[in-house]
Amino acid sequence: MTSNEAMSCEPARKGPDRRLCVAPMMDWTDRHCRYLLRLIAPNALLYTEMIVAAAIEHGDAERLLAFDPREHPVALQLGGSDPGQLALAARVGQQAGYDEINLNVGCPSGRVQAGRFGVALMREPGLVADCVTAMREAVTVPVTVKTRIGVDHEDSFEFVMQFARAVTEAGCDALVMHARKAWLEGLSPKENREVPPLNYGIVRQLRSELSVPVIVNGGVDSVPAFESRLAEFDGVMVGRAAYQSPMTLGKMHETLYGGSAPDEGTVVESFLPYIEARLDEGVRLHSMTRHMLGLFQGRPGARHWRRQLSQLANRPGAGADLIRKTLADVAGMTRGKNGQERQAQA
Ligand SMILES: Cc1cc2nc3c(=O)[nH]c(=O)nc-3n(C[C@H](O)[C@H](O)[C@H](O)COP(=O)(O)O)c2cc1C
Repeated sequence: MTSNEAMSCEPARKGPDRRLCVAPMMDWTDRHCRYLLRLIAPNALLYTEMIVAAAIEHGDAERLLAFDPREHPVALQLGGSDPGQLALAARVGQQAGYDEINLNVGCPSGRVQAGRFGVALMREPGLVADCVTAMREAVTVPVTVKTRIGVDHEDSFEFVMQFARAVTEAGCDALVMHARKAWLEGLSPKENREVPPLNYGIVRQLRSELSVPVIVNGGVDSVPAFESRLAEFDGVMVGRAAYQSPMTLGKMHETLYGGSAPDEGTVVESFLPYIEARLDEGVRLHSMTRHMLGLFQGRPGARHWRRQLSQLANRPGAGADLIRKTLADVAGMTRGKNGQERQAQA
């Protein structure tokens, strides 16, 4: 039996083929970060940081939702648990141009629990289903849910399956599964991304019983890990690795979509016009360079790049020339290293 035949007993799956996604990451995947990652991974689906639905209803929605058209495809992640408010926020998000609306049912932060959203909502599948139904009725773009494989002691397959069934029957178009449960008592959000063990098996089992695409998330930090997960799921969502080592994201993109990932220097050069345009609007250099620190990860000059940008971009008057100069330094270090290697080989 071929592997295709083996898979044919699964339910017919709706939705596009395999996809690469960049995870929603608070304080990280802001619009500057997404623009940079777009230069590296042209087809990846980029998620915003979580935006609380109440902030869209009562705050400055235009500012909160603004993004550059070149960021497409981009998904808006919402936090909340009030169906009416989420429907409103989803509608405003679609009007702002977002390609997907995602509901956060995975965040374990205490702040989020107090507001009755995030991963604690896994215990209320009926309420989440109502939220999904309301959002689904409010927009025509896909509505998806990002969640985990359990919360505290509720981590059985039946528990997560009951949740998944409730939200997919309510019209959720795809599930993003962080393959870890969350411990609400005793672990910080950061620990909740590291301590509970990854369990891709439970996500695999879930996928075999659902007819919507299942995107796996958690711990995918290299091209081989990406390929392994891609072989068994409808897509892979990459978080920290995409941020800390953006060129690894480029290699993952190359693996899935073909083409060749640009080199670091090309990425920087292509980002410069964007940076200069934002500086003219009054955006601080540091707000953009902070997302560039990992660009040369593992390459000659990486430390110099990181240090120059992190120490100097905050100084008054710092501008795009700091980036140009540091790029030239790093290029010199690369040439120097290659020269030394050639001499050593001779
Ligand atoms: C700094 C940071 C902020 C995060 N913020 C969010 C968020 O706003 N919404 C969300 O669903 N997950 C958030 N996460 C979790 C990630 O989306 C992802 O599920 C997690 O990092 C596991 O994936 P990884 O192992 O590829 O990093 C955040 C993670 C990090 C590191």
